[in-house]
Amino acid sequence: MNLVNLTINNKSVSVPKGSTILDAAKKLNIKIPTLCHLNMSEVNIVNQCSSCRVCMVSVGKGLVPACGTLAKEGMNVQTNTKDAINARKRVVELLLSDHPQDCLICDKNGNCELQSIAANLGIREIRFKGEQSFAKTDTSTKSIIKNYDKCILCRRCETMCNDIQTVGALSGVNRGFNTKVGTFFNTNLCDTECTFCGQCISVCPTGALTEVNNIPLVWDALHQNEKTVVVQVAPSVRVAIGEEFGLEAGTISTGKMVAALKSLGFKYVFD
Ligand code: SF4
Ligand code: SF4
Ligand code: FES
Repeated sequence: MNLVNLTINNKSVSVPKGSTILDAAKKLNIKIPTLCHLNMSEVNIVNQCSSCRVCMVSVGKGLVPACGTLAKEGMNVQTNTKDAINARKRVVELLLSDHPQDCLICDKNGNCELQSIAANLGIREIRFKGEQSFAKTDTSTKSIIKNYDKCILCRRCETMCNDIQTVGALSGVNRGFNTKVGTFFNTNLCDTECTFCGQCISVCPTGALTEVNNIPLVWDALHQNEKTVVVQVAPSVRVAIGEEFGLEAGTISTGKMVAALKSLGFKYVFD
């Protein structure tokens, strides 16, 4: 294998030719923040548009995005220089300057990558004021809400929809400030080839793509004592639910799931 030798934060590392600085940093357990980057190694697909610039690092006197820069022989990378940290901070401040400030009532509150990165960088004010982009929220489907006011154009959803799911419902349209990830002729998602698989939601780092929340309707039904409420779960939930509660991936949790649903008030559980 053709290897490249470099140093990151004065630590030596060798990585296969074609690796990025981010790959090399991972090998050294050095954390570089990322936002647009998404490595789906199980299927060998990487979202590598390098659009957010949150992963800036210093190489010599310059700054480069770690996720989109190939590691080179003899390279000397520093991840925590003043310039690199300031560049990341500025980029996130700019993203926030065109982002709704409604974290408290956002579906992604507490589970938002943009929110965590802003907090980790110590951003406590939005210094930049200017034009705000506006996109109509698409609530046309029964399962997905598309709120592109919160989109940071990371294009992860596009990679997921086009390269993994091979559906092709989403694509970047327009240029500059008007750029957005849209649908064919800007039609509502319900009128596209979207299969409502929801995979785009699972990779969206912000609240731009979220699930329709039917939990209040379920509680309403459960609170009607005279009503017999039944639940039917998809087979995969028996396994996936365990992970949500910290069990090892692949743990079958059928019994726990049924017990929990019955204690919530469901009369019958079908799976
Ligand atoms: S729900 Fe699935 S098919 Fe629809 S836009 Fe998202 S990834 Fe594509
Ligand atoms: S909708 Fe979400 S995943 Fe898609 S580009 Fe915008 S922020 Fe990224
Ligand atoms: S994570 Fe590297 S440019 Fe977005």
